[in-house]
Amino acid sequence: MAWQRVASISEIDADGVLGVDVDGSSVALYRLGNEVFATAGICTHALAMLSDGFVEDGKIECPLHQGQFDIRSGKALCAPVTEDLRTYAVKLEGDDVCIDMERPAANAAPGPNAADGVRSVAQDNKADTRKSAVPNMQSDDSLTQRYVWPAEGLTRIPDWVYTDQTIYEREVEKIFHGRTWNYVALECEVPKGGDFIRSNVGPTPVVVVRADDGSINVFENRCSHRAAEFCRELSGNVKEFVCPYHQWSYDLQGNLAGVPFRRGVNGKGGMPADFDSSQHGLYRLNVTSHRGVVFASYVRDMEPFEDYLGPEVLKEFEATFDGRKPRLLGYYRHTLPGNWKLYHENLKDPYHATLLHTFLVTFGLLVAGNRSLMLADASGRHGVMASAKSEHKGVSRDTKKEMRAYRDGMTLAEPRFMDFVEEFDSPWSVTMATIWPNLIIQREMNTLGVRQIVPTGPHEFIMKWTMFGFEGDDDEMTRHRLRQGNLMGPAGFLGLEDNEAIKFVQDGMQHVPGGQHLVKLDPGVAAGTSESLISEASIRAMYRHWRAEMGL
Ligand code: FES
Ligand SMILES: [Fe+2]
Repeated sequence: MAWQRVASISEIDADGVLGVDVDGSSVALYRLGNEVFATAGICTHALAMLSDGFVEDGKIECPLHQGQFDIRSGKALCAPVTEDLRTYAVKLEGDDVCIDMERPAANAAPGPNAADGVRSVAQDNKADTRKSAVPNMQSDDSLTQRYVWPAEGLTRIPDWVYTDQTIYEREVEKIFHGRTWNYVALECEVPKGGDFIRSNVGPTPVVVVRADDGSINVFENRCSHRAAEFCRELSGNVKEFVCPYHQWSYDLQGNLAGVPFRRGVNGKGGMPADFDSSQHGLYRLNVTSHRGVVFASYVRDMEPFEDYLGPEVLKEFEATFDGRKPRLLGYYRHTLPGNWKLYHENLKDPYHATLLHTFLVTFGLLVAGNRSLMLADASGRHGVMASAKSEHKGVSRDTKKEMRAYRDGMTLAEPRFMDFVEEFDSPWSVTMATIWPNLIIQREMNTLGVRQIVPTGPHEFIMKWTMFGFEGDDDEMTRHRLRQGNLMGPAGFLGLEDNEAIKFVQDGMQHVPGGQHLVKLDPGVAAGTSESLISEASIRAMYRHWRAEMGL
């Protein structure tokens, strides 16, 4: 039992609510008369922040869909919320409000629906919640009993990490909707007021829009009336958003601007007299932008983006986004039949590069023995695979023997394809940065791109590639970038084989389930940065972080 001070009582308005962060968990504090109560800070229905909600008669109303909970017991009171809120024991010490995260409030709602109700393994097995459960209906205890990491530690990864629906849903909650900055767009995709583009945070569809004051807003693509995905175009320019279903309209900040027949017709029907439009805007996410790259988060008090990346990965980010303004060149978009994390792993696995990719080794882009680095940040979540191109001669006979993909004597019909115009202040000719949880930044000689991962379930994700150059590029440079862009994309000379390999791994797990993978390469580095290409230390670092975030 651990009491911790979380606020002072004067910070909580009478009959009000205050949101605080306690060890990475969002907690809502309420003051009812002389008493203080604490509940989980996020609605059990659609993950809205309850600190943005309304307190009335001992109830908290969620700002997003107006579900209500009893503050004292956490009990779900009306549709659409069905699952009770977790509550926490509170004690007051003078002006200090202390809570115990491990102990529910004295009058917490009983029953299996309570989020802190610990169910036995036997109960869980009988109910077979694995196929149908929403993850936050399961207590952390039951999850850790069900999903047991191999005793060997990070050198083995179990298949359920990639194939299990409950794990996937928990990833959406804990990672994509958790304490992360998610890539959503390049600023150059929405250059003028009213410009918008559809995007995603995890699987959740969002709209990225530039308002007339120049600010960029990101909100869920979900009407606050009946949840319609109101924005149907991929991109465009609008003065306002109008939902096609009942024509509710929203301004570019996401505020509800118009409700047709709000006062009914001939004095009959319509919304209740006390309906307050200001409380029914679109659900807005926290937004930040760095060097023209836009990120969004469900967490209100995210650390600055620079701190999120850490100094080493930030340096590589800023080597590519070097201050010149990005200019959009085009898109690729495809669906990959594999788990979304396999894409991160593929780019934290330099071992495969010289073995799988004929083009890479034959034309000297990455050869075992090149100067290279597989960097992991201190948290393990981000990484940068970096290599300096070799002149196409120095592959030793021994190295060739190991690299079956190497093809002697192969030449390109278009030699300009491999030109490398030095333009970056970096020792590396290629860097592939994996920015947790959904972004890859590709700098391969002069072809530049960001890749956005959009998971759609445990077995599939969408890959959105946005290729860019810079303002100031002349026509020849733009043509060069586009020509070299053939390295990348769904059928790129370098992308093609990775897409296949990811499918093969997912197939192997799905068709022979219940297994584990080996990630043992480079035992000298337990988890983290390695100077060897023959290493899986960055994959281990990513899973150290993943396990901590998932509580598994
Ligand atoms: S669902 Fe959008 S206006 Fe009704
Ligand atoms: Fe690859």
